[in-house]
Amino acid sequence: MDYLNPLRLLSVLFTFELLSLSNGTESSADEECPVIITPDRMVIRYGDSPQTVQCQPNTTASTNVIKKPYWKVPERNITERVTWTPDTQQDWDPRPACAGEFVGKPKCTKPLDYTLYKKPDSVSILLVDNAGSVVKEDVDFQLTCEITNVAPAGNLTVRWYIGNVNFTSNETMNATGCFPQKDTDCDLNVTRSPMNVSQTINFHLNRTHNGAEIKCEAVLELGKIEPSEMSSPINITVHYKPWINTTELPHTIPLFRGYPEELVCNASGNPPPEIQWFDGQKHLVSGKTLSVNEAGVYNCSASNEVGSVSYAVKVILKEDYLPLIAGFVAVAVVAISIIFLFIYSIYYKNTKMRRYNLKNAKLSAHNGNVAHNGWDMQFPMTKLS
Ligand SMILES: *[C@@H]1O[C@H](CO)[C@@H](O)[C@H](O)[C@H]1NC(C)=O
Ligand SMILES: *[C@@H]1O[C@H](CO)[C@@H](O)[C@H](O)[C@H]1NC(C)=O
Ligand SMILES: *[C@@H]1O[C@H](CO)[C@@H](O)[C@H](O)[C@H]1NC(C)=O
Ligand SMILES: *[C@@H]1O[C@H](CO)[C@@H](O)[C@H](O)[C@H]1NC(C)=O
Ligand SMILES: *[C@@H]1O[C@H](CO)[C@@H](O)[C@H](O)[C@H]1NC(C)=O
Ligand SMILES: *[C@@H]1O[C@H](CO)[C@@H](O)[C@H](O)[C@H]1NC(C)=O
Ligand SMILES: *[C@@H]1O[C@H](CO)[C@@H](O)[C@H](O)[C@H]1NC(C)=O
Ligand SMILES: *[C@@H]1O[C@H](CO)[C@@H](O)[C@H](O)[C@H]1NC(C)=O
Ligand SMILES: *[C@@H]1O[C@H](CO)[C@@H](O)[C@H](O)[C@H]1NC(C)=O
Ligand SMILES: *[C@@H]1O[C@H](CO)[C@@H](O)[C@H](O)[C@H]1NC(C)=O
Ligand SMILES: *[C@@H]1O[C@H](CO)[C@@H](O)[C@H](O)[C@H]1NC(C)=O
Ligand SMILES: *[C@@H]1O[C@H](CO)[C@@H](O)[C@H](O)[C@H]1NC(C)=O
Repeated sequence: MDYLNPLRLLSVLFTFELLSLSNGTESSADEECPVIITPDRMVIRYGDSPQTVQCQPNTTASTNVIKKPYWKVPERNITERVTWTPDTQQDWDPRPACAGEFVGKPKCTKPLDYTLYKKPDSVSILLVDNAGSVVKEDVDFQLTCEITNVAPAGNLTVRWYIGNVNFTSNETMNATGCFPQKDTDCDLNVTRSPMNVSQTINFHLNRTHNGAEIKCEAVLELGKIEPSEMSSPINITVHYKPWINTTELPHTIPLFRGYPEELVCNASGNPPPEIQWFDGQKHLVSGKTLSVNEAGVYNCSASNEVGSVSYAVKVILKEDYLPLIAGFVAVAVVAISIIFLFIYSIYYKNTKMRRYNLKNAKLSAHNGNVAHNGWDMQFPMTKLS
């Protein structure tokens, strides 16, 4: 059998030893190294008093220890120590690992989850290309957030604020002023020592953002803690085209003869617009109020350096019908009165005649004539004749 061959076995062991020497790490992928690291995660701040980290065999995993576990910190040339204490001024990426040798297992190591972080020296927000802080509505402009001396850059996110609204951008973050000695020196995901980082994003502001403060914040996302640093704000002035509030100024306005109407053209804009009234091409007044006493189409124009708008108001003449109605009522009253008077006068005449008739009837009774019918007669006058 092949594996019983001592020569072959020796060669296998030898090859293994060679591999171990060259690699430094020997843990197998699927089997965890039976060591216990306390604390198992170390997130420490730059300059803080250092913590010591221990490495012990995992006694619950029943393995016989060949050699007491020890620390390997390749970046610091440390190979065999039971405890290790990081230097919080410079151990940015020491890659500490606890190594162990156990019976029946190859040499193995377990890395320590270690992060030395540093809050940035400064966070500042800058206008790109020396653009002014006055922008036009809906015109893109760029702002850069510059973060100096922060670590680790791979755990950094930039949070932006416009007024009270905050957001993050997927725009790439760049290492600035980085002079690489190795090709990964300026890679934010790899380099764990302090770097200068910037993010530049496009802004697309509207009138509601006029005077809003814009800030950026560097946030180190380190799991349980999120140290952050805010930039000082910059004020952005948004210039926008005038806009006429037409809820106060309808398209058609009635004008009563003899009562002048005031038209108020309220326009907002930044910078505040110049407001003028025109009748066709004819300039009437400068200012928002126009007094009209004639029908016509009047144009309000509001303009500033961004643009101009105009709005036409049609003034239509309305007769004042109240005196007319009053007059009509008066005429009607007079007419009706006349008609009544006329009718009454006829009736009155009749009644008078009846009395006269009665007298006559009595007289005729004396005469012995048939006078009973006299009242029933439709036209007593005929009877008389
Ligand atoms: C120790 O070993 C046991 C058994 O293999 C395992 O369940 C446990 O998670 C290990 N402890 C640590 C801290 O690795
Ligand atoms: C580690 O040791 C190597 C050679 O032994 C040496 O060149 C290197 O400078 C040492 N590094 C540190 C950080 O001491
Ligand atoms: C950022 O905005 C979200 C809502 O979009 C809010 O819940 C959160 O509190 C804000 N964060 C800060 C730091 O203002
Ligand atoms: C960022 O996300 C937007 C969509 O949300 C996408 O259109 C854009 O290409 C992304 N930009 C980058 C740099 O990934
Ligand atoms: C940031 O880096 C990306 C690619 O890594 C590059 O396209 C972009 O121009 C850089 N931005 C700045 C502001 O340097
Ligand atoms: C970061 O910027 C500061 C100030 O601009 C500069 O002194 C420092 O050398 C820069 N650091 C790196 C790593 O580029
Ligand atoms: C850095 O890592 C993030 C995700 O963790 C990835 O989206 C990004 O492309 C990486 N950047 C570089 C320069 O490798
Ligand atoms: C201005 O922009 C914000 C979002 O950026 C949007 O919610 C708002 O509706 C916009 N306002 C106007 C008047 O366009
Ligand atoms: C830093 O970010 C990486 C990738 O997002 C994450 O795996 C790691 O846990 C973070 N570091 C800390 C200390 O949270
Ligand atoms: C921004 O504007 C506010 C008031 O609107 C003012 O108090 C503040 O000083 C301004 N900030 C800057 C950086 O100009
Ligand atoms: C327009 O005017 C009306 C009435 O005065 C007012 O309620 C409304 O808020 C104004 N609209 C704007 C956008 O200023
Ligand atoms: C025009 O606007 C001003 C201020 O916004 C307001 O005080 C005034 O009442 C408005 N005029 C009219 C006619 O609504």
